[in-house]
Order: sequence, then structure tokens, then C-alpha cells
Amino acid sequence: MLNQLKQNALKEIAATKELKGLDAVYRRYLGRKGELTKVLRSLKDLSEKERKETGTAANEIKRGLEEAVGEKRREFLAPSGKTPSLSRFGGTSGKTPPSGVNWLDVTAPGVKPAVGHLHPITLVQRQVEDIFQSMGFSVVDGPEVETEYYNFDALNIPPGHPARDVLSLGRTFYLKKGGLMRSHTSPMQIRYMEKHNPPIRMIVPGKVFRVEATDSSHETNFYQLEGLMIGKDVSVANFKAVIQEFLENFFKKSIKVKLRPSYFPFVEPGFEIDMSCTMCVGKGCAACKYSGWIEMMGAGMIHPKVLKSGGLDPKKWQGFAFGMSLDRLTMIKYRINDIRLFHSGDLRFLQQF
Ligand code: PHE
Repeated sequence: MLNQLKQNALKEIAATKELKGLDAVYRRYLGRKGELTKVLRSLKDLSEKERKETGTAANEIKRGLEEAVGEKRREFLAPSGKTPSLSRFGGTSGKTPPSGVNWLDVTAPGVKPAVGHLHPITLVQRQVEDIFQSMGFSVVDGPEVETEYYNFDALNIPPGHPARDVLSLGRTFYLKKGGLMRSHTSPMQIRYMEKHNPPIRMIVPGKVFRVEATDSSHETNFYQLEGLMIGKDVSVANFKAVIQEFLENFFKKSIKVKLRPSYFPFVEPGFEIDMSCTMCVGKGCAACKYSGWIEMMGAGMIHPKVLKSGGLDPKKWQGFAFGMSLDRLTMIKYRINDIRLFHSGDLRFLQQF
């Protein structure tokens, strides 16, 4: 008798052409007053032996029918023949929900929603801003499309000046309609001096652009951090103290700072700043090419001509300027070995931050 019931039910399930019909079949056999349900309910009136036999068989048939209904239902829901994933309900623990019912298995492990996050350079930029603000520096912004005047001339790099070729600053993108993409953030030194009276303490984080044959340490587009401090007696010693305080705060360890003579037309004297390697602490490792030192930035005392360009009297005011790459700072902090990863859009890289 049970077997007949099963055969009938399976036939009917197979013959359904739409969800509605399937629901009807489901109710006819497995619903509250369904035929199989009736059998299961009547078990209590049977003898113990019969109850066991009939019960086992009926339960097995119930499972089989539920499976057949579930399969059919998935067929209707995904005409392509693919089984739709129920994972957004938190999984189904391998059970098949009866037709027309979505089971929410509250015991299934949750699926963590993907949340957005900040780019590593943004993280570093914010940290840098915090540190300089705590030392009384303002954070300012400037235009990425610049004029030749601000990018070069006002910074003591007139046309024909060898520095235009010697410094990578000269590898500039010029725009057809005039102007250029700034090749450093130094133009903001002038723009800021034009509008603010000393004493001045400010930093400019921002994008810069250079024509480059890209490799693991060169990009056409990267971020710089410009710094400017002007007062009546701001000195090289002040610069060293500020930059050491910044680096130690940023890397959260004690750091030595070394000034090497260097040349930039907009400073005199000019330096290149090295810091003791954050990884080997000066002993020598692959990161610092076994020198114990890492090159960090260009800097110097602002050239009198530059102060004049900015409208300040070099007899009254003096100060320092520095410029470093935020990309480089980020690479050292997170031990990233290829600058091109920053703009690669590679999620395997970005999702690590
Ligand atoms: N603007 C220089 C560069 O991009 C860096 C620099 C800034 C050097 C300020 C000295 C003073 O290479």
C-alpha cells in the first residue's frame, strides 16, 4: 500500500509543469492532511512491531518525496538547469526546503558581508596629517594642473635651467591647451606664501605626475608630501628635530636622521635626508641594500629667490622646505616591494589593508 502511494506521488511530481502544481502535489501527500502524513499519524494505533516496520518505510518515503519535490522545484527556479545557490540564506545544512518555502537555517555559520576599506596610501596620508597637525602644521590642498610659473619659474628653475633636465622634475606632462600636470608639490610653497603671512607651518599631501618608464620604484602618478616652515629664525636644527619627531611617530620606533648635501634650485643649502633602516636598525639588510640607511626625502633652507617669489622679504624671513613620496613611505611601512601595485586595482593586494 505504501509502495503504491510512493509510486503515485513520484509520478505526479514528475508530471508537474509549474510551481503551483508542484505545491498541490506536495500538499496532497506531505501536507498537514496529506496521504503520507495520515499514515504517519496512524502509526500510534499499530502494534509495536508493525509500527516499527511501517514507520521506517513511511519516513524513508517521506524523505524521498521531499527530495524529489525539492529537485523539481529547483528545476523550475533555474530553467538553465543550474541549481540556484541558497547560501544567501545562510546555507541549508544539506536539507531541501519544501516547495514554496525558504528555510532560514539560523544555526548555519554566517557569511561575512564584504565591507569597503581605505587604500593603503590614504591610510598613510591620514596618519601623516595627524602627526604634523599635532606639531601645529596646517594641511592644505593645491591644484594638480599647474602653470610653468609655479611648477618651475617661481621655484628658481627658469627655462633653460639645467635642473629642468637633471631633476626628474623635468619629465613633465604638458597639456595641449597650456599648463602642465605638476611634477612635484613644491608649487604650493609659492601659492601658500602668496596668501599667508609668516610664521608658516604647513604640509601639502597630493598627487604628482611624471613621464617615467615605470618599474618597481617608478610610477607616472604618485603621491608627495610637501612641508614648509617659515619664521624669523627657523633653522636646519629645527628641520632635523621636526622630521625626526615625524619619522619616529610614524614608524613608532627610535630613528636616526642623517643630512647629506644635495642640490635643488629652490633651496640653499639643500639636503637629501636618510633615516636609519627601520628593519635592521642600521645593521644592514636587503631593504636598505646593506647600507643601514634609507633615502627618505629632499629638503633644504628655502632659497631667498623663492621667498621673494612668494612675496616674502628674505632679510626678514627664513625657513625650511621638504618633499617626500607618500608612496615610498607606504612601501616602507607595509613592506611593499612594487610601487605599481598601488594603482593595479588588484584586489588580492588591496584586500590586505
Ligand atoms: N620637490 C622636490 C622633488 O620633487 C623635493 C623637495 C622639496 C626638495 C622641497 C627640497 C625641498 O624632488
